[in-house]
Amino acid sequence: MDWGKQNRLNQLIKPDGRCFFLPIDHGYFLGPTSCLEKPAETIKPLIKHADGLFVTRGVLRSCIDTRCPAPIILRVSGCTSVIGEDLANEMLTTSIDEIIRLNVAAVGVSVFIGSEYERETMDNLSTMVNECEDYGIPVMAVTAVGKELEKRDARYLALCCRICAELGASVVKTYWCEDFQKVTESCPVPVVMAGGPQCETELEVMEFVHDGLQKGAIGINLGRNVWQHEQPVAMMKALRAVIHEKATPQEAIDVFEQERT
Ligand code: 5RP
Repeated sequence: MDWGKQNRLNQLIKPDGRCFFLPIDHGYFLGPTSCLEKPAETIKPLIKHADGLFVTRGVLRSCIDTRCPAPIILRVSGCTSVIGEDLANEMLTTSIDEIIRLNVAAVGVSVFIGSEYERETMDNLSTMVNECEDYGIPVMAVTAVGKELEKRDARYLALCCRICAELGASVVKTYWCEDFQKVTESCPVPVVMAGGPQCETELEVMEFVHDGLQKGAIGINLGRNVWQHEQPVAMMKALRAVIHEKATPQEAIDVFEQERT
C-alpha cells in the first residue's frame, strides 16, 4: 500500500488493530440534533478519548481546533435533509482539493443500497475512491438506511458491505445486527459499527459492541449512544475498555460506574 495511505490508516486504526471513531456528522441532514446544538461544546470533553472524529467540513472549520488531537474523517456526501423528500438522494459535497487542503486522514461517503438512489450513491462512492486513491486518502463507505431502520439484518448488511468493498472502500461502516459474522466474513476490508438511536441501557451498548468485535468488526463509529448519554465521558471510557482492553460488557459497566460523575 502507498505510504501515505497506510500512514493515514495507521492514524485511525491503532496498533492493536482496533478503532473508536466519534461521529458528530448528524447535523448534515438533521440540523441541530439533540446534544449537538453546539458541536464544539459536545466534542471538547470527548475528543481526547477518540481515535478519529467524523465531521463535515463546516463543523471542522468552525468548531474544531487545528491542534485537534484526533485524526479527522471528513464526511463528503450530503445535500439532503430529514424534512426533504428522500434522504437517499445524496451528492458529493466536497472537492478533492478541499479534502487535501483540510489534511484529513480519511473521508466518509454514504451509500443507500436498495433505495431509489442506489446507483447515484454508489457512483458517489466510486468517484471519491477514484479521486482519493490518487492522493493516498482512504475512503470509509457508510451503509446508510435513512429512516428504514428495519432494513438492518445480516443478509442486507452483508450485501451492502461487500458491494462497498468491491467499489474500493478502504473501510466500511455498517450497523451491528444478529449473526454479525455473516457481515464481516464476506467483506474483504475492515468493518466498523455505527450505534444507531440510543439504546435503553448502557449494558445493551456494551453488549452489541462486544458481540460485533468478537464477530470480526475492528471497532466502532458510535455517536448518539455516547453524546446523547447523560454521562458521555464515562460511556467513552467504558467503550474504550471493550475495544482496546478486551473488557467484557460487565467489566465495561464497572468502568462506567467508576467514571460516572
Ligand atoms: C450519520 C452517520 C453517523 O456517523 C453514524 O450513523 C454513527 O452515528 P450513530 O452511532 O449515532 O448512529 O453516518 O449519518
